[in-house]
Amino acid sequence: MTEKKDIFFITGNTHKFAEVLDLFKQANLSYDLKQLDLKPIEIQADSIAKVALYKLESMKDQVIGSYFVEDAGLFVDYPLKGFPGVYSSYVFKTIGNEGILQLIKDFKNSIAHFSSCIALYHDSSDKSLVFTGRVDGKISPKIKGTHGFGYDPIFIPNERPKKTFGELSKKEKNKISHRGRALTKLIEFIKYE
Ligand code: IMP
Repeated sequence: MTEKKDIFFITGNTHKFAEVLDLFKQANLSYDLKQLDLKPIEIQADSIAKVALYKLESMKDQVIGSYFVEDAGLFVDYPLKGFPGVYSSYVFKTIGNEGILQLIKDFKNSIAHFSSCIALYHDSSDKSLVFTGRVDGKISPKIKGTHGFGYDPIFIPNERPKKTFGELSKKEKNKISHRGRALTKLIEFIKYE
């Protein structure tokens, strides 16, 4: 058996790492996933792809081998026209889930999605690649569930319309989530190495 190579996921978010590790384990790859808690430069831009690619570039001199970063956001398409989107991190730290619910409390319905963008530096081909994933749903009228992190307790995915992400197990969330979908594409790319 050939020895496994390392691939690094640069993140300080242990929840994200745990989700990604779960999918890696199921895929039985020739890579070992390792967490690197470095602090990439995070710019404010008009798309999460730009943020992720900038993060990736900012780490080039600090990592040896293949590595990836991920950027995600919650977009409340109705009634908030996509807010918080690229401001998701700041909005979560300031007004949080209660604040989002407060902003939409006078509306009967909502339409929302999460997007994830993974930017990978692939060492053997010396290429940078982007993988994206999206999950559609709505905002729960109440905060529900204790699993996951961030906006999970207020997001109801269309595929599981009775539960928030906060009420799903890691495995269940991974099957349908924005990050799970982006990562499945990355895994497909490195699977045959
Ligand atoms: P970032 O990708 O870590 O910059 O995430 C931006 C914001 O969205 C942070 O406040 C995260 O907590 C939140 N977020 C990112 N991914 C998820 C998720 O899968 N579920 C819930 N919140 C998330």
